[in-house]
Amino acid sequence: MEQTFLMVKPDGVQRNLTGEIVNRFERKGFKLVGAKLMQISDELAKTHYGEHKDKPFFGELVDFITSGPVFAMIWEGENVITAARDMMGKTNPLEAAPGTIRGDFGMTVGKNIIHGSDSPESAEKEINLFFNDHEVFAYTKQD
Ligand code: CMP
Repeated sequence: MEQTFLMVKPDGVQRNLTGEIVNRFERKGFKLVGAKLMQISDELAKTHYGEHKDKPFFGELVDFITSGPVFAMIWEGENVITAARDMMGKTNPLEAAPGTIRGDFGMTVGKNIIHGSDSPESAEKEINLFFNDHEVFAYTKQD
C-alpha cells in the first residue's frame, strides 16, 4: 500500500495545529503508521531540502525548519501521496484553496505549516531519512 511522509513544521506545532492536522487525515480514512515529535538537525535539514540548496531562500528554509520541534508522520492508503498534497493545498498559502490545510491556516510561503512528499521516490527517500524501521508499524485498521 502507498505511503507518504508528512511533517507539521515548527509554525504548525507552535500554533497548536498538530491535532487538527492529524484529525483531518484520520477522518479522511488514511492510516497512521509512524509519528514522532522531533528536533531536526542542521545536517538532516540540509539533506531533506537538498534539491533547494541553490535557491536564494535555502538558508532561511534550513533556519526555520530547525527552529523548533516538528511532528513527523507516515501515512498509508490508496493514492495517499496525491491525496495528501490536495488536502495540504498549494505551497503558497495565499494561493491555496479554502478547505485545504494551508488555505485555512497559512499566510506565508516560508511558514506554510506542513510538508508532504511530492512523488513515490521522494516519499521513500523521506521516510527512510526520518524514520527507523522499528518506528514504522504494520497493523490492521478497521474502516
Ligand atoms: P516544502 O513543501 O516543505 O518544500 C520546500 C519549501 O520551501 C516549501 O515547502 C516552502 O515552505 C519553502 N519555500 C518555497 N519558496 C520559498 C520562498 N520564496 N521563501 C521561503 N521559503 C520558500
